[in-house]
Amino acid sequence: MGDIHIGEAKENIAKAGFLDVDVDPTLDLFGEIERLKKEKNAIVLAHYYQEPDIQDVADYIGDSLGLAQKAEKTDAEIIVFAGVHFMAETAKILNPHKKVLLPDLKAGCSLADSAPPELFRQFKAKHPNHLVISYINCTADIKALSDIICTSSNAEKIVESIPVDQPIIFAPDKNLGGYLIKKTGRDMVLWNGACMVHEIFSLEKITRLKIRHPNAKIIAHPECEEPILRIADFIGSTTGLLKYSQEDAAMEYIVATETGILHQMQKSSPHKMFIPAPPDNSCACNDCPHMKLNTLEKLYLCMEYELPEITMDEQLRVAARKPIERMLEISAKYGL
Ligand code: 13P
Ligand code: SF4
Repeated sequence: MGDIHIGEAKENIAKAGFLDVDVDPTLDLFGEIERLKKEKNAIVLAHYYQEPDIQDVADYIGDSLGLAQKAEKTDAEIIVFAGVHFMAETAKILNPHKKVLLPDLKAGCSLADSAPPELFRQFKAKHPNHLVISYINCTADIKALSDIICTSSNAEKIVESIPVDQPIIFAPDKNLGGYLIKKTGRDMVLWNGACMVHEIFSLEKITRLKIRHPNAKIIAHPECEEPILRIADFIGSTTGLLKYSQEDAAMEYIVATETGILHQMQKSSPHKMFIPAPPDNSCACNDCPHMKLNTLEKLYLCMEYELPEITMDEQLRVAARKPIERMLEISAKYGL
C-alpha cells in the first residue's frame, strides 16, 4: 500500500480532502469497484462531468435533478457520489441514515462558493417580501435560507409555479437567472454568482468554429453567459443536451458546457461529431477543476475505506431538506 500508511492518510483526510495513499497500479479498479458495490450494498451515482472511467463504472449517470431523485429513492446502504460536494450533501440531506461518500471532499463548486451564507442572509433581509428560489448548486446553508430549490431541468417550471404577484429572489447563478427572466417574463432579483466553467466560452471562437462547421448546431447549458445563449440552437441541462443530441437530426454539434458530457453523447451517437465549444483561456480546456478532482483511484479508495464521508449538523440538514422536498414535489407534479 505505497509509502504512506492508511492510518496516517485517515488522520490527514481533512487537510488532503481524500485518502492520500498509493494504489497498486496492477489492481483492476473496475473489478474492485464492482466487488465493493456488491459486498457493501453501495450505489455509485455520477454526474455527466465526471471523467469517462468513472461514468463507465457508475450505476447511474445523470444531471443534478436525476441524481437527487435517484439518491432519494435508492435502497442501497451506501451512496458513493462521484460529483461535487453540494451534490453529495444533497444526497445526505435526503438520506440522513445512509452513509454518503465523496471521493474528494475538496471537489467544490465556484458557483456554490459565490454565495457566502452571511452575505446572502443580508441580501435576503433587504428583500423581505421575496420568495427565494435557489439553484441546487449552493451550500446547505443557502438551501436552508431558501424556499424552493431548482435545477437547470426544472427551473422554468418552478418559477412558473409561483403566483405572478409574488416577488422572487433567484440565487446564486445570474446567468441561469437572466435566462429564466427572459423565458418566463418574471422580473426576479438576481444574486451575482456564476460558474467559472460556463463563463469562459469565447463568442468569437465559437463564431469562427461555426463558419468551419456551418451545419453544426450550437447547444448550450443555461449557466452560459447571455451572448452564448443568444446564438444557441438549443439550451438545456446536461440531460436535456444529451437527449437533444440523440433525437435531433444534425450530424455535428458545438457543445457549450463542461466536456465530460461528450463521453455519453459520443457513446450514444457514435456516427455524430461533437466539438467542445472553445473557451477564452490559454489552456483551451473547459474542464471543471472541481469535478475533475475525483479519479477512479480515489473512488476505489473511498469505497474500500468508506472515507471521506459527508456529515452534517442535523438542524441544518432538516432546514435544508424542506426546499429540496418542495422541488421534488413540483418536479413530480410535472413529470420531470
Ligand atoms: P445539470 O447537470 O443539472 O445540468 O448541472 C450542470 C452543472 O453545472 C452541475 O455542476
Ligand atoms: Fe460548479 Fe460550474 Fe463545476 Fe458545475 S461546472 S460544479 S457549476 S464550477
